[in-house]
Amino acid sequence: MNNKELIKYALEAREKSYSPYSQFKVGAAILTKSGEVITGCNIESASYTPTICAERTALAKCVSEGHTDIEKIAVVGSLEKISYPCGVCRQFLREFGKDMLIICATSEDNYTEYKLSELLPNSFGPEDL
Ligand code: THU
Repeated sequence: MNNKELIKYALEAREKSYSPYSQFKVGAAILTKSGEVITGCNIESASYTPTICAERTALAKCVSEGHTDIEKIAVVGSLEKISYPCGVCRQFLREFGKDMLIICATSEDNYTEYKLSELLPNSFGPEDL
């Protein structure tokens, strides 16, 4: 699946965002190496701390369905300027590989693409334990 198609899934997931406190919608779509697409949105909480980002929602769904083989993830936050995954999400994703691609987009036609290792250099992961 190409980046544009995956971004479309992230845009659709973004519409499901539950973000009454920040009003900041985020959607994410993961493509597994076996070709499944698993999406997530950010989910906020009245007590704030339990809020979960779109990337971690998608990854939790993915792993709990048995997929740890991640090829890439598309993320759409702001539609005005590109949003990048927060530090917690970068580390959470890192568990499943340094080489996965992170596509950060505002639309299907405006995105940047990084390897996770570029966004989280010299990272700590499962091989370090
Ligand atoms: N958020 C994400 O979903 N992903 C990120 O990488 C950054 C932030 C969400 C969390 C919160 O619901 C809202 O955006 C504002 O921080």
